[in-house]
Amino acid sequence: MAAIPKTDTIWFNGSFVPWDEARVHVLAHTLHYGTGVFEGIRSYLTDRGTAVFRLDAHLERFFRSAAIYDMPLPYSREQLTEATLELVRRNGLENAYIRPVAIFDAHTLQLLPEGAPITVAIAGWPMGAYLPAESNRGVRVTVSPIRRFNASAIPPAAKSCGQYVNSVRATQDAVRRGFHEAVLLTDTGVVSEGAGENLFVVKNGVVITNDADAAILMGITRESILQIAHDLGIPTKIRTIRPEELPQADELFFTGTAVEVTPIEEVDGTVIGDGRPGPITTRIRTRFFEIVRGLHADYSHWLVFAGEKVGSGVWA
Ligand SMILES: Cc1ncc(COP(=O)(O)O)c(C=O)c1O
Repeated sequence: MAAIPKTDTIWFNGSFVPWDEARVHVLAHTLHYGTGVFEGIRSYLTDRGTAVFRLDAHLERFFRSAAIYDMPLPYSREQLTEATLELVRRNGLENAYIRPVAIFDAHTLQLLPEGAPITVAIAGWPMGAYLPAESNRGVRVTVSPIRRFNASAIPPAAKSCGQYVNSVRATQDAVRRGFHEAVLLTDTGVVSEGAGENLFVVKNGVVITNDADAAILMGITRESILQIAHDLGIPTKIRTIRPEELPQADELFFTGTAVEVTPIEEVDGTVIGDGRPGPITTRIRTRFFEIVRGLHADYSHWLVFAGEKVGSGVWA
């Protein structure tokens, strides 16, 4: 992801403020201890204007993450839904990335964030592909020497700010060594996930992924892909993935809001299949992009429309 392109406005504690005015204090508890929670959501341009993909599921996870960190969000699901859709409209977002975040703001630097005000913001900006996969190429990954944090230390079910130091370190190491992305193993040595995405293996026609036992973030894209595979009649299996299965896979791909469905071309120098996105990955990926662009009525419940675009830039 390159530098964030500025948009007009950010929803900040209940109102829309100019981009440059969405600021927090340097003594915010979350800045020091990583105690915030966040979401990553995408919107897509469809024939009926911009649609936010699985907004309900993302906001549900946002509230669940906040609850795990004893952070009562001072807004309702309905308020954050409306704020997100209004953000899309006010900024004229089409294919975009949307980032809700909630933090313990400045008040105390005791570890217990007692009495700290909770700041909630939602920003969004235009965004294309996150990883440099072109339609006919995949990404090159490495199995990271940096292990995924243990679930008894940090709950993987929450999407908390602090846990991402683990992903940032693994990404820095992978990029330094010339790879696009890192795959992390658990502390027991089985495959967990990518630094910011879930991992799928295709072997003998079966689409395989792991689950909470491997300390993964239970991705909303992962769940969507399992449903899509099932609907396409492709067998799926959820089980532990051993690291030696990766170079031997017929196909490998990542899923996540940022990476969408990204084929993996190489693992530590071993080419997967013939080095091109495989047939099952391609079928699933094609169907995913059709769905997010509103081309499959059967999945319209996954899309929340921000409003029909009428003429140029006018929202009904
Ligand atoms: C560590 C990690 N795993 C998996 C995912 C994929 O989750 P989702 O599909 O809900 O975006 C993400 C991105 O949010 C992530 O950061």
